[in-house]
Amino acid sequence: MSTSALTEIIERYRGKPGSLIPALQKAQAQMGYLSGETLEQISKGLGIPFSRVFGVATFYSQFYLSPRGKHTIKVCVGTACHVRGAGAALQALEEKLGVKAGNPTEDLSFQLETVACLGTCFLAPAIMIDKDYYGEQTPKTVGKILKKYIGGGADAGTPDPEE
Ligand code: FES
Repeated sequence: MSTSALTEIIERYRGKPGSLIPALQKAQAQMGYLSGETLEQISKGLGIPFSRVFGVATFYSQFYLSPRGKHTIKVCVGTACHVRGAGAALQALEEKLGVKAGNPTEDLSFQLETVACLGTCFLAPAIMIDKDYYGEQTPKTVGKILKKYIGGGADAGTPDPEE
């Protein structure tokens, strides 16, 4: 994040009660994650002890302390999806992306995550990429879907019911 963008965020929230979480949210929205340097600057700028800033940033799962991939892929490994083959779809994604779940790809294009339930068990096995859901996934279909997002295609986020 540019120093001026962070300075603006700090100026906006300085001296306001309850400002830490919104300041962290804005900083993360700008940069994609919260580096140690960013946390230090927020601590100094808002006059909040670093231990508190760090504690809040690590307590809430919405905050990320390391770089993340641009597109977040959530693979459901809940019971309904598991029994219908989620493991094979996950394995295919790990192989195609070259990462294990919980990590970003080397080029930071994708973040591969597993979740306990996406709330779409009727689509099992289901995955979610950014805000789009894809159901009945197999190793073959996840490969096709992934291609839509590689290279940042204009309609990358639009699910194709034919796939
Ligand atoms: S168990 Fe996979 S969506 Fe619910």
